[in-house]
Amino acid sequence: MKKIFAGIVIGICVPLVAGWLFVSLGGMPVATKGPPLPLEKYLARKALHAAMDPEVSKPSPLPADEPNFLAGARVYQAQCAVCHGRLGQPETTIAKGMFPHPPQLLPPKKGVTDDEVGETYWKVKNGIRLTGMPGYVGNLTDSEIWQVSLLLLHADKLPESAQQVLRN
Ligand code: HEC
Repeated sequence: MKKIFAGIVIGICVPLVAGWLFVSLGGMPVATKGPPLPLEKYLARKALHAAMDPEVSKPSPLPADEPNFLAGARVYQAQCAVCHGRLGQPETTIAKGMFPHPPQLLPPKKGVTDDEVGETYWKVKNGIRLTGMPGYVGNLTDSEIWQVSLLLLHADKLPESAQQVLRN
């Protein structure tokens, strides 16, 4: 019995001490340059999907039409372009220096045109902790969040008027 107890205590303490040493001796990367830790991406993705998946099949309450694309494009230019890129322009210096890297969401990149609109809505509303992706709940209206999400879903087939806004 004593042996089992000692085994359990050692089994818990050794990984804790090893983790503490790893962090306190500088093993944990804190700068934005450099590759992710083993499993970092996998665990971050798993946690995100666990939180998000029950909600992502929500359909948009707004139609995917020109007025909503235009409104979404204005939101995008004001709030998102600094990290996710402007149409026809190179990646910004801010985007280049971030970890994780903000994906470029406008053509020629595929962006999130393959995702469900509810998934993009969830990410814009709630943000993604510890990545730099802000949550906009309380600062953009619910309609603005849907409009920018619809814009990104249709980023590869937008009317000229919306493309014009995204080029500025
Ligand atoms: C300060 C930089 C920054 C701003 C501003 C920002 N984002 Fe992000 N965003 C990020 C980063 C970094 C990620 C990647 C997060 C990750 O790797 O999990 C991201 C991820 C996303 C994703 C998920 C992409 C994918 O491939 O799954 C979407 C969608 C998104 N952002 C939309 C927006 C929208 C819309 C806005 C504006 C309303 C915005 N973001 C503003 C940095 C930013």
